[in-house]
Order: sequence, then structure tokens, then C-alpha cells
Amino acid sequence: MNTLPSSDITVRRMDFAIPPTLDPVFVRGCPEESFVYLGLSLVLPHLEPYLIRTMQAALRQIEDPLLAARVKQFCAQEGQHHRQHTALNQALGLLDIPALASLDAEIAADYRRFSEEESLQFNAAYAEGFEAATAALGVMAFKSALFDQMEPLSADLWRWHTVEELEHRTVAFDVYERLFGDRRYRLKTALFAHKHLTGFAVRAAKALLAAHPQRLAGAHPWRRWAFAVRLGRHFLPRLLDSYLPGYDPRAIPLPDGFSAQARRYTQLAVRTS
Ligand SMILES: [Fe+2]
Ligand SMILES: [Fe+2]
Repeated sequence: MNTLPSSDITVRRMDFAIPPTLDPVFVRGCPEESFVYLGLSLVLPHLEPYLIRTMQAALRQIEDPLLAARVKQFCAQEGQHHRQHTALNQALGLLDIPALASLDAEIAADYRRFSEEESLQFNAAYAEGFEAATAALGVMAFKSALFDQMEPLSADLWRWHTVEELEHRTVAFDVYERLFGDRRYRLKTALFAHKHLTGFAVRAAKALLAAHPQRLAGAHPWRRWAFAVRLGRHFLPRLLDSYLPGYDPRAIPLPDGFSAQARRYTQLAVRTS
């Protein structure tokens, strides 16, 4: 294990040279697991701009210049993430599937509505709930060697995104704590956020399975168990930690290999700031 000072945030502009088409079964031999992650990828082009809008609204109330600077770095990283996932989703043809196009419109409407109608406290708590989940997913991905089981381009894009999610894992938490600090409200909203996101990801995965039924024929049955074990062993315990008293994302032990990958993507980036 290694730990990283929580001030280490690098904004990397990447060129993954995404080709015009990509195979949606990018976790080798496991369409179900691939499609759940693609469900998340479908959400990100709407969710990450919503996080940015939320943090920009919070910035108007943040007086601490250090936290304000970190919020700006958070927004810059998330801005790169949703652009790359939009390109990825296009190469995967996600929006060419009518059920996913209509789900995409529903997702977009939800996040627009949250920004327009919900309080800053709700939006900041939702953002922290999402960030707690991405930190848990990031640790899971490294610890269970998930990226080694992906096709190379997808592995690079998801690993880069994961590295940056872990780098900025404290920002939404710090914003919520500084502006509101009501733990009960944060947990109630995080629970809503986790159900909301999981609902979209599962519906997207089901639509993808319905659109690609032939892909199930060649899938290894044991991979479904491997996916369940990965979630049960490495993701859920970490996510549940975020509901416990005293939770602080600074205490999350960063997985082996994290720092080397962070340096690698800094070197590969077209531009950093
Ligand atoms: Fe992100
Ligand atoms: Fe994030």
C-alpha cells in the first residue's frame, strides 16, 4: 500500500486515439460485467457536467483559497472525463440502440432538473455520494486486476479515469463538510444517489444484453461469479465504509500500482496542469 498527499491532483488531457468502432464486450469473456460499466459510461456525460455545475455553485461560497483551487482542479479533471466517455460511447454505438437513446434522455433530464430545482446541499451531498462510489470502484479495479482483463484501449481509458478519481477523492467530501457538515443528510442523499446510479446502470446493461443476445452464447458462466465476488469483496465493503461515522476519504489506502500509473498517465498526457 502507499499513501498520497490528498493535494496531488494533476489534470491530464489525453489522446486515446479512440477508433470509429469498438467492441462493447471489453471485459474479455464477460458481457454482463462489460455492460454494467457501459451503463456507468452512459451516465457520465450527464453526471460529470452536473458535478461541475454543483462545484461551481459551491465555489461562490468557499472562502478558503486552497479548497477553491482544489475544486477548480476537480472540475478540470471531470471536464476531461466526460469528454472522453462521450467519445467512447460514440465508438461503442451506445446511442444507436433506441432503448439506450431514450434512457440517455431520461438521465440528461434528471441531472438538469437536479441543478435547476434541488438545493446546493442536495447536489453537494449527491456529488459526495458519487465520489465515494468512484473511489470504491477505483480501489476495486486495482485490487482485483480488473484492467488486466479489459481490451487495451478501454483499459487505458478506465484506468486513467480511475487514477484521477482517486486523486480528487477528498474534494466533494471537503466541500460538503465545509459548507454543510450535516452527516445524516449526506448519508440519506448518498443512499439516494447510489440507488439512482445503480438503477440507470442496470437498466442500461439490460438494454445492451437485449441488443446483443448473441454475446451471451460465448460467455463463460464462471465470469458472472467472478464479477459478483469482485463487487462483494472489493467494492461493497469500501462503499459501506462511506456510511460509517468518522468516514474520511483521506484514510482510503491507495492500492499498489496507483502511483506508478499516475506517473505513467502524466507522461502520456498531451498536456497537464
Ligand atoms: Fe470522473
Ligand atoms: Fe470524480
